[in-house]
Amino acid sequence: MRELQTIILAAGKGTRMKSELPKVLHPVGGRPLIHYVFDLAQGTGAKKIYLVLGHGHKKIQQALNKNPRLRIVLQRRLLGTADAVKAAAGSLKQYNGDVLILSGDAILLKKETLKSLLQKHRKREAACTFLTTVIQDPRGYGRIIRGFGGKAVAIREEKDATEHEKNIMEVNAGVYCFQAPVLFKLIHDIKINPKKKEYYLTDIIALAAQQKQRIETLEAEDPAEGLGINTREDLARAQSVVRRRILRELMLNGVTITDPATTYVAQGAKIGRDTVINPFVVIESNVRVGAGCRIGPFARLRSGTWIADNVELGNFVEVSRTRIGARSLMKHFSFLGDARLGRKVNIGAGAVTANYDGKNKNVTHIGDEAFIGSDSILVAPVNVGAKAITGAGCVVTRGHSVPAGGVVVGVPARRVNAKKSTPRRVRKKKKT
Ligand code: UD1
Ligand code: CA
Repeated sequence: MRELQTIILAAGKGTRMKSELPKVLHPVGGRPLIHYVFDLAQGTGAKKIYLVLGHGHKKIQQALNKNPRLRIVLQRRLLGTADAVKAAAGSLKQYNGDVLILSGDAILLKKETLKSLLQKHRKREAACTFLTTVIQDPRGYGRIIRGFGGKAVAIREEKDATEHEKNIMEVNAGVYCFQAPVLFKLIHDIKINPKKKEYYLTDIIALAAQQKQRIETLEAEDPAEGLGINTREDLARAQSVVRRRILRELMLNGVTITDPATTYVAQGAKIGRDTVINPFVVIESNVRVGAGCRIGPFARLRSGTWIADNVELGNFVEVSRTRIGARSLMKHFSFLGDARLGRKVNIGAGAVTANYDGKNKNVTHIGDEAFIGSDSILVAPVNVGAKAITGAGCVVTRGHSVPAGGVVVGVPARRVNAKKSTPRRVRKKKKT
């Protein structure tokens, strides 16, 4: 098998986003666009990944994880997609394997499709194989021009297309595989586009066709795969596709999602089997939920939250950077931030950890089987021992701890004799 190198084009300004943030740093499903494309590139087994950057390159580099295969290439002046490829060409002199080119904004491409594209390219010994999609609204995309016999002979950009060509619904998805010698020879023959004053990579198809090079195309099964993110509208479209893909994966793995239309789970969040996610739940990245849990409706689990098995988090609860032990309950409007809970803890309605003192985020520890009464406020740092009880409406002030089995009530909370003064009703409520 011929060697493979990958080039990702991500130097563009992303003007149509109308944003201070470089386009490829906009998040979808809780991750910046560039991470999706980088993952795809990594999955191809390419020896190195040349990432072409220009606009906002410093910010983008900061957002990338260290990777021994990554090489950053700077495109000095943003003169179009062909010019971006030229920027990487210098690093690939003498190389005669295959080159895969990906766009930094084509995040919906699936790894299986990419694999099929590479397979077809190799099997047909093509000089170039590129991905197309057939879409209802082809505006803004390069149209695929096919000659007699159906072979692709050119890609026509919107601005240069005739009225007749504008009706073509098969478009360029911006994913190409080339034999390196063909690519690096023809790339220098591309002329500047007189209207946009840019060098279009897509013009290489007509040049290759004129030279009778073998050009192949692969049509993506899912038309969404060709979506390029150019505007905020495209961003929202991508978000909705990614969201549905994430939920589908979870459902296939045994998670019940009662209303996928109102459920938001970030990429990488882990959820165990037989957990039920009710409507209007937001689960952010870096969250783990165990098996057999019930979440929502209307709950938000924020980054850094780990939830063990058989936990119930009900309506209007927010949990952030917190660990919750198995069989704990937090069923009605409550907030836990930077808390560490043991097993079978009950968090009453309206209970809150006051974790932020204006400067620092402080930790709250709550032991196994502790009972946090309704409307309790725990001003962190606070320790509540195992089986301890905080009475309804109490405020456990900063730096205090409630010993194991102890009972506190009032504002500020004071200890009372656990046995005599605990109203039985509170104990009964423990299981609600
Ligand atoms: C491009 C294709 C179009 C295709 C569409 C698919 C060209 C000329 N057109 O159009 O046929 O249908 O993608 O989404 O290629 N970039 C650079 N340097 C530059 C310009 C762009 O690195 O000087 C990068 C961008 O950051 C982006 C990618 O190349 O990641 C594509 O550029 P973009 O401007 O989004 O191209 P489209 O107009 O969408
Ligand atoms: Ca684009």
